[in-house]
Amino acid sequence: MKLAVPRESEAGEPRVAATPDTVKKFVSLGFDVAVEKGAGTLSRIVDADYEAAGATLTADAKATLADADVVLKVRRPSADELALMKKGAIVIASMDPYGHEDEVKAMAKAGISAFAMEFMPRITRAQVMDVLSSQANLAGYQAVIDAAAEYDRAMPMMMTAAGTVPAARVFVMGAGVAGLQAIATARRLGAVVSATDVRPAAKEQVESLGAKFVAVEDDEFKQAETAGGYAKEMSAEYQKKQNELVAAHIAKQDIVITTALIPGRPAPKLISKEMVASMKPGSVVVDLAVERGGNVEGSKAGKIAKSGEVKIIGHLNVPGRIAASASALYAKNLVAFAETLVDKEAKAIAVNWDDELVKATVLTRDGQVVHPAFAPDTK
Ligand code: NAI
Repeated sequence: MKLAVPRESEAGEPRVAATPDTVKKFVSLGFDVAVEKGAGTLSRIVDADYEAAGATLTADAKATLADADVVLKVRRPSADELALMKKGAIVIASMDPYGHEDEVKAMAKAGISAFAMEFMPRITRAQVMDVLSSQANLAGYQAVIDAAAEYDRAMPMMMTAAGTVPAARVFVMGAGVAGLQAIATARRLGAVVSATDVRPAAKEQVESLGAKFVAVEDDEFKQAETAGGYAKEMSAEYQKKQNELVAAHIAKQDIVITTALIPGRPAPKLISKEMVASMKPGSVVVDLAVERGGNVEGSKAGKIAKSGEVKIIGHLNVPGRIAASASALYAKNLVAFAETLVDKEAKAIAVNWDDELVKATVLTRDGQVVHPAFAPDTK
């Protein structure tokens, strides 16, 4: 069994899908592991450490991917990479399939079995495989660090002989995995933190972290969570009421961090130009949803935009800004899933296509798009 870890080919992707620790695990499962030279450099992993863990270093993508039975990636494989993979290869990555239906078809055409880690069900057994959580958690932390770096004042209250510096007021919109970590991080830095979400379950979580919960808590709000624990798109009427409440609150904030997402839909617009304009000079807004259309009017993907004297941070790939930690957790998520695809006695690949984790994540197989969200005929 050959397992391949190519260097990520997409610009701006410093993460890597395996670490020396996970390579060791794959070797013990019976894999010959090929790691492309330099694959870990931007995540602070040197080639020699992969080699010491039992991997063979390969010179380029071609040598890495040739004959691989399993390929681990951070991003969906490119057309060039697909051309180098053998038919039937299992490719495990964050496939980002929504809005990329043509690329999903290309994976089917290449004959690979593509698994989308972001579709892993959020059940207890699969918690260790949950890439959305492992990466969003770090993104939430990094959002606060990025905000602090752009903010010209201190975060904590400081009482000094020369006078008192007030604590920064931080408002977090969307209290899922990223938002809760942003709240915790801002609290550790000494800020006065408040947060909002449309899911009622978030209220208790926000309060348990010592932050104030700000939301219109009407009947619609009380039912605004899907069975899967995700947010629903809210009615125009609710959004209007919530906007009014939020607008008054934002005007008093120094830093706003937005993390609101709805699976498979564009990110909800939460902050208007007027709300940004109501903030004091030097305030900072971080739009963590910028890759999915953004929560903030005026945010620019990959840029720190200025709206008057307010900075709007729109960094792309925020987990990649903390790549060494992000890769370590991502690689752990992948090895935990890949392990379930192996028969440990026979040291052979043995995918149970009826396993609920496999069924939830497999996008393409035997030349077909098989995931119900992308192959409507199979619904
Ligand atoms: P997400 O990344 O899809 O969205 C982020 C947050 O934005 C969510 O909390 C969502 O409710 C909120 N949001 C959406 N529209 C909004 C709006 N208009 N205004 C304000 N907030 C809005 O969510 P994430 O972080 O993936 O978490 C979703 C749920 O899954 C949570 O309940 C979380 O606790 C749960 N979860 C469960 C896990 C498990 O059981 N293994 C693991 C991770 C998360």
